[in-house]
Amino acid sequence: MNIVTTLTELRFARTNLAEPVGIVPTMGYLHDGHLSLVRQARSDCAGVIVSIFVNPTQFGPQEDLEAYPRDLARDIDLLANEGVDLVWTPTVEVMYPEGFQTWVTVEEMTSRLEGSQRPGHFRGVATVVTKLFNATGPHRAYFGQKDAQQAAVIRRMVQDLNMPIQIVVCPIVREEDGLAMSSRNVYLSAVERQSATVLYRALQAAKGAYEQGERSADKLRQVMQATLEESPLARTQYVSCADPEKLQELEWVDERALLSMAVYFGKTRLIDNLLLP
Ligand code: PAJ
Repeated sequence: MNIVTTLTELRFARTNLAEPVGIVPTMGYLHDGHLSLVRQARSDCAGVIVSIFVNPTQFGPQEDLEAYPRDLARDIDLLANEGVDLVWTPTVEVMYPEGFQTWVTVEEMTSRLEGSQRPGHFRGVATVVTKLFNATGPHRAYFGQKDAQQAAVIRRMVQDLNMPIQIVVCPIVREEDGLAMSSRNVYLSAVERQSATVLYRALQAAKGAYEQGERSADKLRQVMQATLEESPLARTQYVSCADPEKLQELEWVDERALLSMAVYFGKTRLIDNLLLP
């Protein structure tokens, strides 16, 4: 497994990769959710690249950039085990050299959900993902349904900007008790970690109501909210029942719907979602 940092090293390593090439963009501190994307890429592609970069431009000023967990040595061991060909670990100076001033903004759909709570977040994501794509020239790129809005934004961007890259979205990997795996779960105290299972229960409760015939989006949002309120530590930021592509709130669930939520436990903000039907 080749590990590179600079653009010159990356370009050279890229020319030696078998094609098609798949990339899995990550911020590191890898868990089984990330590794499920790597395994999918490994089974689909002749060359597999994983990038590890904690992208400062997608963090707000009050967010956890400094505290974001990092363990590069462990990540590299995990990726070597998965048979990854190339790991790119750019520095902030490589990605954002002095004088940087070009941004990619996806408009309307980033004003909702995560975008409404995290101004500038998707500008940072779209810009860094564009840079990762431009530098590595992949045929396919792998993202997790865990970040449903991010996947939808990247799909939109690739289509809008004629990027010749197939976006593959992989299912959410969960702990045994239903908590979606996340690098941020390490922030949770033992009691918070226990209570955090309420997100999955809230999604399941709404899914249950849907399966019983409930089609009012308001009712489904209420079911999620009521379940979250059963947990005294959970502070809900939003619950949503929205169109999976446009991300607009729905009135009625006629076809597909994305149920999603952001919930604080202490200082830790968790997100989760489920696609209906
Ligand atoms: P990060 O949070 O490290 O996630 C990297 C990829 O792993 C994302 O596509 C995310 O959706 C996926 N992922 C995370 N947890 C998952 C889980 N439990 N099940 C399945 N997939 C999961 O998302 C980012 O980094 C960044 O925004 C990035 C795209 C790298 C741009 O900086």
